[in-house]
Parts: sequence; structure tokens; C-alpha cells
Amino acid sequence: MGLSFPLIILIVHYLVSLMMFNLILFASSSGVQPLWHDDERFALLQFKESFTISQSASTNPSAYPKVSSWKPDQISDCCKWDGVECNKDTGHVIGLDLNSSCLKASVVSGQIPSEILELSKLVSLDLSYNHQLKLQKSGLTVIAQNFTNLEVLNLAHVVISSNVPNILANLTSLTSLTLNKSDLHGEFPVGIFHLPNLQLLHIEFNEYLTGYVPELNITSPLVSLRLAFTNFYGEIPDSIGHLKSLVEFNACICNFLGEIPSSLGNLTNLIVLNLQSNRLHGSIPQSISRLVNLEALCLNNNYFSGRVEFELFLRLGNLDVLQFSGNNISFLTNTNSTFPKFSSLVLNDCDLREFPEFLRDQDQLEYLELGGNKIHGQVPKWMGNVSIETLMGVGLDHNFLTGFDQFPVVLPYVNLKHMWLDFNMLQGSVPIPPPSIDFYTVSNNRLTGEIPYLICNLSSVTELDLSSNNLSGNLPQCLGNLSASLKKLDLHSNNFHGTIPRICGEANELMMIDFSTNHLQGRVPRSLADCTKLEAVNLGNNQIHDIFPSWLGILPELRILILRSNELYGTIGSSDNNFDFPKLHIIDLSNNDLTGKLPSEHFQNWKAMQIVDDEQLKYMEEQKWLQFSRGAGRVMYSFSMTMMNKGTEMVYQKVSNLIIVIDLSRNRFEGEIPEVVGHLKGLNLLNLSQNFLTGPMPHGKQFDIFNNNSFSENLELCGSPLSKKCGNLEDSLPPSSSQNSTNHNSEFLFEFGWKVVAMGYGCGFVFGVVFGQIVITKKYGWFMKTFAIGQPNRRRVNWKGRRN
Ligand SMILES: *[C@@H]1O[C@H](CO)[C@@H](O)[C@H](O)[C@H]1NC(C)=O
Ligand SMILES: *[C@@H]1O[C@H](CO)[C@@H](O)[C@H](O)[C@H]1NC(C)=O
Ligand SMILES: *[C@@H]1O[C@H](CO)[C@@H](O)[C@H](O)[C@H]1NC(C)=O
Ligand SMILES: *[C@@H]1O[C@H](CO)[C@@H](O)[C@H](O)[C@H]1NC(C)=O
Ligand SMILES: *[C@@H]1O[C@H](CO)[C@@H](O)[C@H](O)[C@H]1NC(C)=O
Ligand SMILES: *[C@@H]1O[C@H](CO)[C@@H](O)[C@H](O)[C@H]1NC(C)=O
Ligand SMILES: *[C@@H]1O[C@H](CO)[C@@H](O)[C@H](O)[C@H]1NC(C)=O
Ligand SMILES: *[C@@H]1O[C@H](CO)[C@@H](O)[C@H](O)[C@H]1NC(C)=O
Repeated sequence: MGLSFPLIILIVHYLVSLMMFNLILFASSSGVQPLWHDDERFALLQFKESFTISQSASTNPSAYPKVSSWKPDQISDCCKWDGVECNKDTGHVIGLDLNSSCLKASVVSGQIPSEILELSKLVSLDLSYNHQLKLQKSGLTVIAQNFTNLEVLNLAHVVISSNVPNILANLTSLTSLTLNKSDLHGEFPVGIFHLPNLQLLHIEFNEYLTGYVPELNITSPLVSLRLAFTNFYGEIPDSIGHLKSLVEFNACICNFLGEIPSSLGNLTNLIVLNLQSNRLHGSIPQSISRLVNLEALCLNNNYFSGRVEFELFLRLGNLDVLQFSGNNISFLTNTNSTFPKFSSLVLNDCDLREFPEFLRDQDQLEYLELGGNKIHGQVPKWMGNVSIETLMGVGLDHNFLTGFDQFPVVLPYVNLKHMWLDFNMLQGSVPIPPPSIDFYTVSNNRLTGEIPYLICNLSSVTELDLSSNNLSGNLPQCLGNLSASLKKLDLHSNNFHGTIPRICGEANELMMIDFSTNHLQGRVPRSLADCTKLEAVNLGNNQIHDIFPSWLGILPELRILILRSNELYGTIGSSDNNFDFPKLHIIDLSNNDLTGKLPSEHFQNWKAMQIVDDEQLKYMEEQKWLQFSRGAGRVMYSFSMTMMNKGTEMVYQKVSNLIIVIDLSRNRFEGEIPEVVGHLKGLNLLNLSQNFLTGPMPHGKQFDIFNNNSFSENLELCGSPLSKKCGNLEDSLPPSSSQNSTNHNSEFLFEFGWKVVAMGYGCGFVFGVVFGQIVITKKYGWFMKTFAIGQPNRRRVNWKGRRN
């Protein structure tokens, strides 16, 4: 069992130049201020009336309701209202900027009202970031028909839910079109790419929007093109080289195929090139070295192949973010030349055999990933001098590292927050990160000795994973000192012995503990009842000698309780109706010495198992943001566990809300199977086998989805689905005809849960540079999509079922 910590990095970059668009637009000539136009003023007031204001309708912290300054009294000049811009000569309303204005469409219609159509002179319309605004299906068409002078249209995060009409390509004045995250679908009209004045086209985060990049015109003034997280497909045309003004091209997580055209090297104004997570192949064109203004280059998670000489990047003196993982690329770095100073360098899976020499001169690195390479031996001494003030995230996982050559006891990176050292061959005692550390994993190494006391000096750590090593001794008493920050503590698969100390102090954040597969003894520590935020407890495969800890039922958030293969004894007894595991989804008490009747009272109280949660799939996971000087990265971490399913031990790298399990197998329970088990509608894995249960099998309800494997080896149990017939004819009736379909659905549900677990995991490693103010919601859909089009990350995917 283990805790796993997938990582997503989304580096956010603000291209200030692009934000100048609106400002430039409103620079108009001065003159005597004419009166406003009454019809337009009236239309604005009508428009205002059609909304309600709701702070929750805009998530931006600086959002405020601009329309509250719009007053109906006759002397109020509508040209001075917040968000309204008039032409200084004609007095006509030409700009409406209601971005992040907490607008919610009035309850009945939920639509943008037609009143604004009166404002026929509009040049700029910005209703973005009012998340509860909807546009009628024909809305874009109506806008294109009525506002023929439109230069700026921004409907980001407005719910449009339609395709993009061709007529939008008739707006020949358009300079800026922003339709991010507007729930668009259908095929994007190619005509829009040919708009003669279009400089900015942002349509990212519309998963169901398809389209392709057409042959482009030599006169195109396009400056910023963002297609990220859409379903754009096809090849990137050679004529992309015509977009001489292009500064930003972000097409990450789309469906682009083919090779990168070498004409891309003609786009010498490019600052950002992000093609990560597509299906591009071939080699990286040499012409990339002509992109001398490039600051961020992200080509990770494609199917590129061949060798890349690092010299390719030598002339790119501004290059700051380089992400290259997940390709079949070998990097050659044997050079003494001077390299750009990177802030973020991601070279996972690049066939590196040693720490690249050029790292020696890097003194501004904030984020370094060299995971999944073939680096052997010790981390060289000189690495102990690299970017020690600036490094915040370091990933050296999945290599063959054996230790740190002459490093100080505490690693020298004074601002380090996240560190991955898992899946190496590290020997000796646990390397100690600096006290700034937040996230630390050194699992799956060969570390020995006790947990150093210095670990308890990590007063900011939230995730600590020392699992799958050969650590021994008692767990240090001071672990409890960490609980004010610690959320996950994973010590599974070591050689720890002794009793479990108090692990929660007065203030504690602890959500998940996994101490399984050690030699821990004594009782389940009563102090666990103080860990009120606990969601998952795994003490399986130890020598815990105790009765069933029903007092854990007081923990309001507990979802997973695994005490498999210990020395639990006695009867489970009655339950306290008020404190009986209100959120329990998974309980595994198998292979203990529990006796007496099955705990039917508890079954009755475990409410979370009695509902089928058909909401969206959710995982037990947490995310956190890591701030860099050039953006932010998102780190996901989740609880993983192993479960016996049909005789196979399956590893669930993430646990979804759909998995509901009761495993009481291999105990000494006796008596009949209570009918109440049939009421646990959400249950999809039940195992009562290898007990002393008696009586005929109950039927109907939830029972029908389980087969023989769930009840086998109870000598006195009979009736279908067991092969042993009961004396009584009724009990040995063949299964009802509905059984197969229910069975099938339920299997599907379960397997589905498991596969999606794997999908989510594979995509957890999509490293992305996404530029702009992007808020990712709808995470599930996004995961699904990325998996479908990206390639699963080779090195960290370890989710296949394994046999014990
Ligand atoms: C849009 O432009 C096309 C071709 O330029 C033209 O045929 C069509 O009539 C225009 N549509 C409208 C509504 O103006
Ligand atoms: C290229 O742009 C010019 C000027 O706007 C236009 O006349 C021409 O038709 C365009 N060509 C294509 C192929 O779009
Ligand atoms: C790119 O530049 C080269 C040389 O500067 C030129 O021959 C080629 O036609 C250009 N390609 C495009 C698509 O602009
Ligand atoms: C580390 O850097 C300091 C100052 O830059 C230098 O004096 C020292 O020799 C370096 N140590 C190593 C091991 O490179
Ligand atoms: C743990 O907390 C106790 C009580 O606050 C304190 O005496 C002890 O020094 C702490 N230990 C460490 C290693 O911080
Ligand atoms: C423990 O952490 C504190 C700051 O949190 C630091 O001052 C102290 O030097 C650390 N102890 C060791 C041995 O690193
Ligand atoms: C683990 O450590 C113990 C001593 O604590 C040693 O006997 C054993 O061989 C080690 N196991 C491995 C796999 O290194
Ligand atoms: C139930 O548990 C037993 C022993 O623990 C195991 O052999 C069997 O495969 C399990 N059945 C299912 C359906 O997982």
C-alpha cells in the first residue's frame, strides 16, 4: 500500500503585452462631450434590470458589481457609468466591459438579455468571467449580426453551449476574440483564422470544440493563438511560418498529429511555444534554434524521437522554461558551452546517464525534474551548490541513485518545498530535507536504520512518504509534533516494530496514515480518536493485538479502514448509532481472529454504503499550488491502497467514491448472513469467505451481484451462487433472470472505477505550461481527455494488478 503523489505543473505566465489590447482600443480623439443617447441609456438600464448580482458568479477576488453605479435618474450620464465607454464625438456607447462583475442572469431566463442589441455601435463587448451567465443558442449569431463593428469580443467563462457560427468570420474588424471555457462544441469555422485584423484568438478549454489550423495567409497579424484543451486535430500547416507576428502559440493537450514543420523556426517573435500532450512525432527541427526570443518551450508528452543536441538551445538566451519529458528523445549534453539560465527544467525520460554538466552553472533554477532517466551512483557533490537559494521543487525519482556525495546532513536547498527521491537505490539513513519542505517522498529505496529524529524538525511538511524501504526500530515519539501540518504519513512496507506512538497533537491536519506491512504491535492507539480529520487508516499486515476498534466510528470523515492481517480478536458487538463510521466506504478486517456473529447493527448504520453515488466520479485526492516567480504549479496527491479482488491483489493508485468494500474474509465469524447486507446498495466488493457462516444464502437486492468467490469456504453455507445445494428447494432456485444484467453493471461499475483510477493517474503527469489566467474546473473531463490523447507516462505508472 502506499500514498502516491501525482504531479501536474501548470506554469502560468502573463503576457502583459496582450493585455494592452483593450487600452489601445479606447484611445480616441478628444472633443466637446456630446449628450448620451437616450435609447442606449434606456437599453443599458433594461440590461441591468435583467441581472441579479451574486458575488459567487465571479471567482476573481477583485470582482465587483459594476452595474451598481448605473442609476436611472435623468441626470445620470450613462457614459460615465462603470464599464461603459462612449465615443467622445458621437456619444454612442462603443464599449461595454462587464468582466468579473458578479452578473447572474435572472432566475427565469438564465440568458443574456436582448436589450444590449440596441447598442449597435458597440466596438468592444466583454462579459467574461460571469460564470452564471448563459447565452442563447443563437447568441453568437445574434451578436455577429448586430454588432458589425465589433473589434473586441470576450465571452470567456460565459456559458454558450453551442457551436461557433460561420457568420463570426464576417466580423472583419475583429482584432480580439476570446471564447475560453464557454462550453463550445462542433467544428470551429476556419474563416476566423483568415480574419484580416485578428491578433488574438483564445478558444482554450472547450473540450468538445474540434477544428484544424488551415493554411494561413502571409498577411495574418495574429499575435496570440491559444487552442489548449480543445479537440483541434490534424497537422500544423507549413504555412504557420507566415504568422510573423506570433508571440504565443499554445496548443497543449489537443489532437495535433504529424511533425513540427521546420517553418516554425521563422516565427522569430515567439516567446511561448507549447505543444505538449499532442500526438506529434518525428524529430525536433533544428530551426527551433532560430527562435531567439523564446522563453518557454514545452514539447513534453508527444511521440518525438531521435537525439537532441543540447546545443540546439544554446542561442536561446531567454529560454527560461524547458519541458521535454515523455518523449523518446535522448539528450546529449556533453558540452562546455554556456547555457541559458533556466528557472524550470523538466527533462524526465530523456535517457540521461548522469547529471548534465551544464547544471553546474544554473543558479536560478526553481524547478528541476530529472526523473525517469538512467542516472547511476551518487548525486555529485557539485549538485550541492546548484541553485541552493532558489530551488523549490526537485524530482530525481525513478533513477538508480545510491546516495548524496558528501552532502551536509540536511540537504542544502534552503527554500525547497517539494522533493521526489522515490524509486532509486538510496542506501543508508533517510536524507533529511530542509525545514522548508512541504512534500517529501523517498519511498521505494533501500534506506536502513531508524527514522532520524531530525525528521521531526520539518515543521511545514504536509506529505511525508518513507514507504517501501528497509527502515527499522520504533516509530519516533516526536512524530506527533508534525501533525499540525502533516496531512499524509506513509511508512508502509518497512521493518518498524514496537507500538504506535501518539501521532496527533492538539491541532492536527492528518488525513491519511499508512503504516501497513511492518511489525507493529500493541493496540490500535486510542489517541487516533484525536485525529478528527482522518479519512484513511491502513494498519494492515502488522501484529496489532486488539479487539475491533469500534471507537474509531467517532471519526466523522473516516472513509477507509484497513486492519487486514493482524491479531484482532473477539466479537464486534453492538454499535453506537450516533458514532458509527458515517462516511465509511471501505472496511477490510480480513485475516484476523474475529468471532461471533456478523455485525448486522453496524451494517445498518453504515449509511455511506447504502447509497449509490451517481454524481461525478471523485477521488480521494488533494491538490496544492506551488508558486514560482514565473507562475504556479499544481501538485496532486492521493491515497492509494491494495485490495484483494477475486484472488488478485489490485493496486488502486487512487481511490474513487465508487469503490465500496466490506472484506471480512478469513476470520471465525459464525451464524447467518444478515439480510441487511442486501440493503448496502453501493457495495461492490463483499468478501465473507473462509468463515464459519451457516444457513441458506439470502437472495435479492445487493446479494445478486456477488458470486461464489464472495462466500466460499463457509462449510455450512448453501444455496446459489454457492455450488452446495440446500435441502430446501426454494433456496436452491437458479438465479433470477435479472441477475446477469445487474451483475454485469456492477462489475462494470467496479472495473470502471478501477480503470478510471488508472487513467487519472496516467494523466497526473501531464506537465503543462499553460499561459494566461486559467482556472481548471471540470477536472474529470479533462483527465479523461488527456488520457485518451496523450500517452501514459511510462515511469510512474505502476497500477497493474499484481499477484501476491
Ligand atoms: C457573411 O459573409 C458572407 C461572405 O462574405 C456573405 O455571403 C454573407 O451574406 C454574410 N452574412 C451576413 C449575415 O452578412
Ligand atoms: C489573404 O489575405 C488577403 C488580404 O486580406 C486576401 O485578399 C486573400 O484572399 C487572403 N488569402 C487567403 C488564402 O485567405
Ligand atoms: C521561412 O524562412 C525561410 C528562409 O528565411 C524561407 O525560405 C521560407 O519560405 C520561410 N517559410 C515560411 C513558411 O515562411
Ligand atoms: C560552491 O560555491 C561556492 C561559491 O560559489 C564555491 O566557493 C565552492 O567552491 C563551491 N563548491 C563546490 C563543491 O562546487
Ligand atoms: C516535540 O514537541 C515537544 C512538546 O512541544 C517538544 O518538547 C519537543 O522538543 C518537540 N520535538 C521536536 C523534535 O521538535
Ligand atoms: C531545526 O529547524 C529550525 C528551524 O525550523 C532550525 O533553526 C534548526 O537549525 C533545525 N535543526 C537542525 C539540526 O537542522
Ligand atoms: C533489512 O534490514 C535488516 C536489518 O535491519 C537486514 O537483516 C535485512 O537483510 C535487510 N533487508 C534487505 C532487503 O535489505
Ligand atoms: C475473498 O477472500 C479470500 C481470502 O481472503 C480470497 O481468496 C478470495 O479471492 C476473495 N474473494 C473475492 C471475491 O475477492
